[in-house]
Amino acid sequence: MARSALLNVMVQAALKAGKSLSRDFGEVQNLQVSLKGPGDYVTQADRKAEKIVREELLKARPTYGFLGEESEEIKGTDGAHRWIVDPLDGTTNFLHGIPLFGTSIALQRSGEIVAGVIYNPATDDLYTAEKGGGAFVNDRRLRVSARKKLSDCVIGCGVPHLGGGQHGRFLVQLRHVMGDVAGIRSMGAAAIDLAYVAAGRLDGFWQEGLSPWDIAAGIILIREAGGFISGMNGETDFLEGGSVIAGNEHIHKALIDVANRPIPKA
Ligand code: IPD
Ligand code: CA
Ligand code: CA
Repeated sequence: MARSALLNVMVQAALKAGKSLSRDFGEVQNLQVSLKGPGDYVTQADRKAEKIVREELLKARPTYGFLGEESEEIKGTDGAHRWIVDPLDGTTNFLHGIPLFGTSIALQRSGEIVAGVIYNPATDDLYTAEKGGGAFVNDRRLRVSARKKLSDCVIGCGVPHLGGGQHGRFLVQLRHVMGDVAGIRSMGAAAIDLAYVAAGRLDGFWQEGLSPWDIAAGIILIREAGGFISGMNGETDFLEGGSVIAGNEHIHKALIDVANRPIPKA
């Protein structure tokens, strides 16, 4: 599998951040049993990972913009290119010693996501995709699942957290979807959920209230794996809106219908 120079830069940044996160994850597991807990330590790990990614990316392309979750946005002089980065997606999992988390890096060109990398150092899964070049996990080509019937599908979703709002709305969506599918899963890391859709592990996924850095890399992974991803109602312009729904051609369409069914009358 040949990677472009830009994708290589993204991979190197993700691997370097992954090394740092991996070391910190080991320490977090030790701190679980301490009275103070690992909270502050995780915040530091998160910021450290963003610093590493930011330095690597800006060293390679100093004129590009940079939007990361943990620091002030850099506009860049280039105008057309912007990195979109979540240094640690799945912070709550990381904090609790659950090995489902990762660094997500995307490249946006003139508004379109053209390359993406998601790396989970705990499982050493490196997901990569670039426009027209296919999607991969390590060296293996990815395809979304081929299932056509919702009743055969395992669907991922993001559960709103404390203070996250929209709990009632989510419960209505869940009630509708879980009545029609084989199973529901929630990984607690949107980037990993989206990578799992690209890998055909999850047949579909939906979540509202996300940020661009949670979903940017996942968009290109899913599309390059032959899948579909949009806003909750099928909108094509959804990066900033934060609502996503994804799957193969059939499941994406079916999920949009089911997840948007109106609230039943009591
Ligand atoms: C969170 C995770 C989680 C999702 C939240 C996100 P973070 O990102 O992706 O799965 O449900 O909405 O904020 O805080 O771990 O980077
Ligand atoms: Ca995130
Ligand atoms: Ca994060």
